[in-house]
Amino acid sequence: MIGHEKVLSADFVNSLQQVVGAAHVLTDDLGGYGTDWTGRFIGSPSVVVRPANTNEVARIMHLCSQHNVAVVPQGGNTGLVGGTLADDGHIILSTRRLNWIGDVDTSSQQISVGAGVLIEQVQEAAKGHGLRYAVDFGARGSATVGGTIATNAGGINVLRFGSTRHQIVGIEAVLPNGDVIEHMAGLLKDNTGYDIASLLCGSEGTLGIVTAARLRLVASHNQRTTVLLGCDSSQEVVDVVSGIRQQFDCLDAAEMFFLDGANLVAEAFNVAIPFAAAVYLLLEFSADVDLASDIESHLVQSNFSGSSAVADNESSRTRLWRLREEHTAAISTIGVPHKFDVTVAVSDLPLFINAVRRRVSDANAEWSVYIFGHAADGNMHINVLGPTANDESVDEIVLQVVAEFKGSISAEHGIGSAKKKWLSLSRSQAEIDMMKAIKSAIDPQGLMNPNTMFV
Ligand code: FAD
Ligand code: MLT
Ligand code: ZN
Repeated sequence: MIGHEKVLSADFVNSLQQVVGAAHVLTDDLGGYGTDWTGRFIGSPSVVVRPANTNEVARIMHLCSQHNVAVVPQGGNTGLVGGTLADDGHIILSTRRLNWIGDVDTSSQQISVGAGVLIEQVQEAAKGHGLRYAVDFGARGSATVGGTIATNAGGINVLRFGSTRHQIVGIEAVLPNGDVIEHMAGLLKDNTGYDIASLLCGSEGTLGIVTAARLRLVASHNQRTTVLLGCDSSQEVVDVVSGIRQQFDCLDAAEMFFLDGANLVAEAFNVAIPFAAAVYLLLEFSADVDLASDIESHLVQSNFSGSSAVADNESSRTRLWRLREEHTAAISTIGVPHKFDVTVAVSDLPLFINAVRRRVSDANAEWSVYIFGHAADGNMHINVLGPTANDESVDEIVLQVVAEFKGSISAEHGIGSAKKKWLSLSRSQAEIDMMKAIKSAIDPQGLMNPNTMFV
């Protein structure tokens, strides 16, 4: 242990090894855990500990409470707001080994899984029973159930099925003092006091460690139709989505992105762009009947005149989705972005997007802005390349524009360490005081993820 003796005692680290075994107490080469997915937030955890089960998590938390050591929970480390930023003397508790998967209960359409299970593993387990896990997004292969609960992750299907919070029907967690709460029966009607699952969902590791969850599954309609439309403006995107939603109740996803982002993906990953357009709208429907001709006649009747491409098999569907989902990775190939994941009213999207572009370019015409996101949710992802990691002037600019549009400074990624300075733009002081009161009641020593959510 080079250089960590000063902050973590040898007998504390030894006690951790007694709990999980020396192989699962890491003290060197922790970069893969200490640096966030974007490379902008670089921590210096003293130790990474990898418990195998809830009992080991509880014993670790009890030890940390006794030794007053801060704990940063971590799942897949795909978070985009610096939510697992650990300092010297902190430990990262990795949930990746909590990866058990229960049987799908087809009568209740639910499944219980460990917090370290990947989103795509839940999707796979459900598929085998003609069901579907409704949370889906580009990091499905590395984001964990625990992480998506902690951030109340959204993704591409929120407009039809809601965010992660709406999928949780039971939870198991370990509190900062090592107490285990377990409420996993999955009863749909259970009004017996505070909704602890809902409180922990979105708490970003500041209240406790989610160790397992019981999740609802939804019917997986087998007729999926994926359509890419070329629009002239963001206003046309908003209008087309509004018309589609009035006509069809089986729209799963409505994603938008611009030509500059599509070109970046095409160059970075050799993905073909079916046609040029100023703005792209990617729609996905799922039903029990083939909707392609209904969708086509709706577009004709609503005088849609842009280009379109319909995926007629799984590989063409994947190609269309790669154009949208590879934006995050493509942007990271050309720099370390300042990322903003924000929500405004859908009707305000065109004015908001123009205002952000204008204000960022007025600040520095050299900076480049890539915008894409979940159109029907009013949730845009704004990526600014150019400012250095610590230059927060662009954060101030973009989040102020969000506030002017009465939006939310965090749509689905959470606050993390990245946006804690601006929390008051979206929450009142009374709300922040209440959240801090809950935090101090549950975590009186302030050990849980201390760099996250609150300044
Ligand atoms: P981590 O990054 O490990 O942790 C995230 C936060 O949760 C941290 O604060 C951490 O302390 C806490 N935490 C993790 N596990 C636990 C636990 N078991 N108990 C308590 N706290 C815990 N997010 C979206 O919402 N929608 C998207 O569309 C989306 N697309 C993405 C696409 C790409 C390519 C990438 C890289 C990320 C994307 N994300 C998206 C962001 C990210 O995947 C989500 O925030 C996800 O919820 C993080 O899960 P994770 O397991 O990686 O958590
Ligand atoms: C997405 O929708 O692709 C994600 O939220 C990731 C991002 O914002 O980069
Ligand atoms: Zn997103």
